[in-house]
Amino acid sequence: MQRISAVSEMTAWSREKQRQGETIGLVPTMGYLHEGHLTLIRRAKEKCNRVVVSIFVNPLQFGANEDFAEYPRDLSRDENLAAREGADVIFAPLVKGMYPQGFHSSVEVEKLTDRLCGQARPGHFRGVATVVAKLFNIVGPDQAFFGQKDAQQLAVIRRMVADLNMPLTIVGVPTVREPDGLAMSSRNVYLTPEQRQAAPVLVRSLREARELIGQGERDAAKIGGFIRQRITREPLAVIDYVEIVDNDFLQPVDKLAGTCLIALAVRFGNTRLIDNMVVEV
Ligand code: PAF
Repeated sequence: MQRISAVSEMTAWSREKQRQGETIGLVPTMGYLHEGHLTLIRRAKEKCNRVVVSIFVNPLQFGANEDFAEYPRDLSRDENLAAREGADVIFAPLVKGMYPQGFHSSVEVEKLTDRLCGQARPGHFRGVATVVAKLFNIVGPDQAFFGQKDAQQLAVIRRMVADLNMPLTIVGVPTVREPDGLAMSSRNVYLTPEQRQAAPVLVRSLREARELIGQGERDAAKIGGFIRQRITREPLAVIDYVEIVDNDFLQPVDKLAGTCLIALAVRFGNTRLIDNMVVEV
């Protein structure tokens, strides 16, 4: 496996592989890889001849009071893990390589980004869309792989790709969970042992809501209330939002119909965790 830092070298590598008729899968990450990322790499390996894993903690998607400086980083550990999964390249650009002096452009996906996490993190999805568009232009992948855990991010990227006619396929991969159900996230390392023990209340409340829906409940306000009540029973959990929206445009629904997304964000101390469930009714 190769490590590439220079943007021009990455593009040249991809062009050469594609000239040889190979397909390229891109797994964009901010590093500190966990089983969720490794699952994305495995999926990319199944579907493409070559796999590029990008590792870039993107300053544009962090707010002024967020954890950019503390975000966990360990490039040599990540390299070993990605190599073990058979990735061909780790693309780890420098901030000045991605955003050289004079950089002034951004990609804004409207409507889908002002709700849910966009409300608490203004500018976050502009940062995500901008870096992902740049990665797509630099690597030129045939397919790119994203986790369903970041459901709003996945919807925003699908919208951007469709709206801007980007020539690649986006593959969403189901959330990978710890044995007790907690969705895997690089931010789980921030949790204290007590918070870590409390955190599976998120997946439990979603699973209980699924049972309620299975019994015929379709009223979004009732289902949302039910989830909030379950989470509030956990004293360490502070709800940021619990919302039920349509899965494509992320607009609130009154009654569940078609494909809906139940999304939530909850704080445990300073750590904000997200989780979600897609329901088809
Ligand atoms: O999901 C992430 O890790 C990041 O938001 C992404 C897609 C790599 C963009 O920086």
